[in-house]
Amino acid sequence: MDEILSTAKQSLSPTRGREASPGRLGVLTPGMGAIATTFIGGVLAIREGLGRPIGALSQMDSLAVDQASSETVAPIKTALPLARMTDLVFGGWDIFDEDMYAAAQKAGVLASDTLAAIRPDLEAIRPMPAVFDRHYVPRLEGSHRKTGRTKMDLADQVRADIQQFKNAHGLERLVMIWCASTEVYAEPGPVHQSLSRFEEGLKNNDPGIAPSMIYAYAAIREGVPFANWAPNLTEDIPALQELAMERRVPLSGKDFKTGQTMLKTVLAPALKARMLGVNGWFSTNILGNRDGEVLDDPRALKAKEKSKLGALEHILDARQHPDLYRDLYHKVKINYYPPRGDNKEGWDNIDIFGWLGYPMQLKIDFLCRDSILAAPLILDVALFMDLAARCGWRGPQRWLSFYFKSPTLPAGERPEHDLFQQLKRLKDRLRDAALATAAESVGSDWGSAN
Ligand SMILES: NC(=O)c1ccc[n+]([C@@H]2O[C@H](COP(=O)([O-])OP(=O)(O)OC[C@H]3O[C@@H](n4cnc5c(N)ncnc54)[C@H](O)[C@@H]3O)[C@@H](O)[C@H]2O)c1
Repeated sequence: MDEILSTAKQSLSPTRGREASPGRLGVLTPGMGAIATTFIGGVLAIREGLGRPIGALSQMDSLAVDQASSETVAPIKTALPLARMTDLVFGGWDIFDEDMYAAAQKAGVLASDTLAAIRPDLEAIRPMPAVFDRHYVPRLEGSHRKTGRTKMDLADQVRADIQQFKNAHGLERLVMIWCASTEVYAEPGPVHQSLSRFEEGLKNNDPGIAPSMIYAYAAIREGVPFANWAPNLTEDIPALQELAMERRVPLSGKDFKTGQTMLKTVLAPALKARMLGVNGWFSTNILGNRDGEVLDDPRALKAKEKSKLGALEHILDARQHPDLYRDLYHKVKINYYPPRGDNKEGWDNIDIFGWLGYPMQLKIDFLCRDSILAAPLILDVALFMDLAARCGWRGPQRWLSFYFKSPTLPAGERPEHDLFQQLKRLKDRLRDAALATAAESVGSDWGSAN
């Protein structure tokens, strides 16, 4: 612990800033489809000077760092010793054995001239065989997968992949970000309640252990921070949180907040701030990528819809304001519509009421690009999870709630969904890290207070 603290303090010194590289960081993604290839291809393109990292707070935003009692504003990437984009090395797993150039072409997000410029680097990245179980993603089938007698065997194979990747590329550190398809909806069961039961379940092939949990288990065992981009239960179970605390590994999830839910968590606090009532919020989407196809299955759709539903009810707290939000009818629909590809369209109809109960309506039509919104967030989360690990911050990282629809938190904790409250918490935490050496108060609770 002391060693971690002194490393964190040394490397987080605001005066050292970005002079020294903190070493090469491996970013491993189970799932190498649309968002993973847009993220990886985007970083490679930015390195070549073909674009800018728009949407990534870690690259574009600043931090007010109070040094020696004078207020100083510094870019986040210079105020903190974050891994640099040139320090990132990419790898991952998929059930399809195609290289990242072929996968990016299939995803159809980045333009062909951009892909042509980075083609050799993308072709050099090939997925490792996946841990896959069709029961969890009924709409997909692929042959590039591992076999094993037990789920523990599969976890051991993923652990070996991680070690091999680290050694082959001479990496100092790794992070893992689940970018694979949404798994079917599941509630936590007995096998998820403790580490010992979970490990028994791995040995006994307990059907309640999903492939995403096997990757997460392997990552945490290897000391690799794990973030979950999808709405699957995955890391949000007591067993894996227990392991993360034991192994001093940070966790975050679930389901990145990119488009419709991001706007919802901005608008709902505004309506609430004005004490305007809301009695209906109907959200519908059309999307045509592979994610849309996977979500066309009602069991996967349930996981996504549940994750999209939670934020509004938390923000518009009917217990606190029954006159305004007691009758809220909230509906979310996701429709698979192939012609749109990755260019999702999200409509919201919001029925609100004001003075004396007079009704009004608000309509939003967001014509977005799913993976273009997602890629910068993956970059931020990869860099911030690495930072968290180097600071010794373990378990669920509530300061990263900013990025997620259903933030993974320690048991019993109520999530914050308001985007600007989340941003404040994120920046406060980054400021803590930037001032770590100056603050003598950094003590033994450093590892869990986040
Ligand atoms: N795009 C967004 O804005 C957004 C926002 C929030 C969440 N998500 C979630 O991110 C995930 C990825 O989205 P996408 O658009 O890249 O989907 P995608 O279908 O293009 O890519 C997912 C990839 O995961 C692979 N895969 C499935 N199961 C696997 C397993 N067990 N191991 C390894 N690979 C596996 C698939 O073969 C596919 O290549 C989805 O779960 C989606 O719901 C996306």
